[in-house]
Amino acid sequence: MNYQWYPGHMTRAKRQMQEDIRLIDLVIELVDARIPQSSRNPDIDELGKNKYRLILMNKADLADEKRTGEWSRFFREQGCFTVSLDARSRAGMKKITDQIMEACREKLERDKKRGIKNRPVRAMVVGIPNVGKSTFINSYAGKACAKTGNRPGVTKGKQWIRLNKEVELLDTPGILWPKFEDQAVGMRLAQIGSIRDEILNADELSLELIGFLQREYPGILAERYGLSEDAKDSDLLSEIAVRRGCIGRGGEPDYSKAAALVIDDFRSGKLGRITLEVPARKDGAD
Ligand code: G4P
Repeated sequence: MNYQWYPGHMTRAKRQMQEDIRLIDLVIELVDARIPQSSRNPDIDELGKNKYRLILMNKADLADEKRTGEWSRFFREQGCFTVSLDARSRAGMKKITDQIMEACREKLERDKKRGIKNRPVRAMVVGIPNVGKSTFINSYAGKACAKTGNRPGVTKGKQWIRLNKEVELLDTPGILWPKFEDQAVGMRLAQIGSIRDEILNADELSLELIGFLQREYPGILAERYGLSEDAKDSDLLSEIAVRRGCIGRGGEPDYSKAAALVIDDFRSGKLGRITLEVPARKDGAD
């Protein structure tokens, strides 16, 4: 990932978003369905207050469906509308327009009462880097939609994409920064491949992931790598290395190579559909 975050850059991005948010009715926030919490920046709640909210749980094709359902309920309880999504396919896009209308129903009814007709809902896509914002905009807007030019009353230089009669989308997404100073958040972002690997120790990432999978998805590693039933956490990586031919020059298992293999298999979905985070329960426990 090429994004670099400096304090000055973050301040500028935030200021830009504060300006853009004034122009819209609805914030469409993309999160990664595999880490719905760590792929958000909580500042969005403050930035988007008084706006209608739609959270798209993207890359749902890689996430655990059951967990995605739990996260959906969690976000709804917080007053956000949600849709789970694979932005690379256009399937499910109709559902998004329905949810946009549903989320903005109050505004639409108010407009109607005031005799305002045909004023589209204005929306803006936001999210941390790599959650699929561009993919989503391209896929949702499709080819059919013409860009609308500058108009009086609209900040100079803003481009809107007219999606249909009902919705206009700001063509540039708002980029939020992840909270990667929190170690657990940084770890999960790295595990899904959203932070450059060099920043974190790849072996550590993999061992943490293996521990998580053993607890939450028992059997998944044994199945993928043909491991013996009684392999212990400590010798799992060694067994994976042997099974997959990750062997060093001296004939010993190459742990780092095996660790990288597990991470790659997880990121590409070869280990199955996995979600790394569970919504916090009402009592505040994780
Ligand atoms: P951004 O604007 O938020 O930074 O993200 P972008 O759309 O560039 O998407 C980041 C990566 O995520 C891209 O992969 C994209 O194809 C992939 N992606 C987006 N939506 C989905 C989805 O719903 N499911 C899955 N599995 N992947 C998704 P890439 O490897 O960077 O590029 P490429 O392989 O598509 O060329």
